[in-house]
Amino acid sequence: MSRAAEIERVVPDLLAFLAQRMPAGRVMLINNSGFGAYGHFPEPNLEHQLEMLDLNVRGLVDFTAKLLPLLKARGGVIINVASTAAFQPTAFMATYGASKAFVLHWSLALNEELRGTGVSTLALCPGATATEFFRRAGLQQGSVADSLSMGCEDVVMAAYRALAAGRTQVVPGWKNKLSVFLVTKLSKPLAARLAAMVLSRFRLKKVKR
Ligand SMILES: NC(=O)c1ccc[n+]([C@@H]2O[C@H](COP(=O)([O-])OP(=O)(O)OC[C@H]3O[C@@H](n4cnc5c(N)ncnc54)[C@H](OP(=O)(O)O)[C@@H]3O)[C@@H](O)[C@H]2O)c1
Repeated sequence: MSRAAEIERVVPDLLAFLAQRMPAGRVMLINNSGFGAYGHFPEPNLEHQLEMLDLNVRGLVDFTAKLLPLLKARGGVIINVASTAAFQPTAFMATYGASKAFVLHWSLALNEELRGTGVSTLALCPGATATEFFRRAGLQQGSVADSLSMGCEDVVMAAYRALAAGRTQVVPGWKNKLSVFLVTKLSKPLAARLAAMVLSRFRLKKVKR
């Protein structure tokens, strides 16, 4: 998904597979693949940062564009996995947060463009969730308190409930909803400062590298 040539190569096979094995019915595309990196930019290295953009942004746009004709022909929904990181600048995860801000805004705008086509989008904005994400981002186990993390099943259920309700954006969990509500009341520079304080104080010392 982070390599344009691979997407180009795989999509015809995927479309042929769907036409043969699942020729009818609405289509759900879930743009979930993504990763982050924790540290001072451009740690761990610039190549990693650029691959993140290739996956979180470029791959998502490319893949969606290539599947859109199928979605429009059969109707369906696109779930774009953004993050609560989309709502404020995220120091020490600067590229990641900005990539998710792109996903959130792009998803909402695309939904407007798709009105009347039978295709809609949902921007799913989870907060900390118990997956491999933080380890892969370079943080040690326990960097994010378990009490702040949601389980994957709860996040998925929140997404399905939002879909059923015809919503275009969902922040799962009341703690995440509250933090997004508060942070979006602040000016962007203040939100950036606050996020930097939180991310540095509680997490910087836990970096593995
Ligand atoms: N966990 C959180 O706290 C959290 C919070 C907000 C948003 N999110 C978002 O949720 C989504 C899923 O992440 P997760 O939490 O489930 O983390 P995860 O357990 O690390 O899973 C990441 C997923 O992305 C795929 N992936 C990673 N690098 C890839 C690459 N270069 N090319 C193709 N696929 C790649 C992985 O595939 P392989 O396993 O095959 O490598 C895996 O399916 C991401 O978009 C992430 O930004 C996560």
